[in-house]
Amino acid sequence: MMTENNIKSILGQYATRFNQEIDRFFPFPQGDEKRVSEAMHYSLTRGGKRLRPFLTYETAGLFGVRFEQSLNVAMALEMLHTYSLIHDDLPAMDDDNLRRGFPTCHKQFDEATAIIAGDGLLTYAFEILSQPSAAPDPDIRCRLIAMLANAAGAFNGMVAGQMLDLIGAAYSVKDDDKEDLIRHIEEMKTGRLLRYAVEAGAVLGGADDNQLKALITYSRRIGIAFQIADDILDVIGDERTMGKTLRKDATQNKLTFVSLYGLENARRIAVELTAAAQEDLSVFGDRAQNLKQLASYIVERQY
Ligand code: IPE
Ligand code: IPE
Ligand code: MG
Ligand code: MG
Ligand code: MG
Repeated sequence: MMTENNIKSILGQYATRFNQEIDRFFPFPQGDEKRVSEAMHYSLTRGGKRLRPFLTYETAGLFGVRFEQSLNVAMALEMLHTYSLIHDDLPAMDDDNLRRGFPTCHKQFDEATAIIAGDGLLTYAFEILSQPSAAPDPDIRCRLIAMLANAAGAFNGMVAGQMLDLIGAAYSVKDDDKEDLIRHIEEMKTGRLLRYAVEAGAVLGGADDNQLKALITYSRRIGIAFQIADDILDVIGDERTMGKTLRKDATQNKLTFVSLYGLENARRIAVELTAAAQEDLSVFGDRAQNLKQLASYIVERQY
């Protein structure tokens, strides 16, 4: 499709530019402890769509913020996301051998190194956010830090979502309550970081209340649509294209929109969310073209 190809290449160009900046953030130590920074660097540089950094860049761009000015926030977020993937793949969690087309961190290094590489990325993300280059105004920096801690954390954040995802399989919930529960899990485990990506861009750009509200609603809808697409791809995706092991959710009894409604209905819900998300952006007119296209790409993507 025309639209999809267009946004795919725009995202690809952004990813190339973003990737060129990564090494600048990596002062490898001389001592043997460098093994952990090598593991961090490995996971960060082996593939990845860079969707979250792109969302921050595009949202901040609505307000005239340039690439370099949103880079620290984008980098911190991608580091935090990568940590969540390293831990998600551990044998005690989803037990995956393949990520972004390469051996997972614990396969390439070892389990203990993967755990501390995750810790290293999580911690470093906040260090990067605290640097003046993240945002010159210290109040804004503080806000960005608090928002990320909240989005990633155990109280309605990504960590809480991961907890529910892990124990969800053992839940005996009535069918009537299942949709709410699944929505809640998906909103936290994936949605909160995607929402942060957009919200942080809006804060960097100095969005007013109305603009912020519209952007948050947009990001919540694409957050759920994104995870529904991930759940659909787990069933019908191509493993080589996706770069990760598929057909796992059913075996691991995960509660997903697909497990509840089946493929067709799950897809319909994702498409509806996308259309509504695009509508949310109408206040920005043509300036939000890329964000609108991205909403479609999120459900049409093959990986
Ligand atoms: C994968 O996220 C994990 C989920 C939250 C479903 P992405 O699909 O954005 O993974 P990368 O960063 O492109 O590898
Ligand atoms: C992962 O969800 C969400 C986080 C890492 C926070 P999944 O477990 O569905 O992601 P994949 O399918 O392994 O990428
Ligand atoms: Mg998981
Ligand atoms: Mg997983
Ligand atoms: Mg998945």
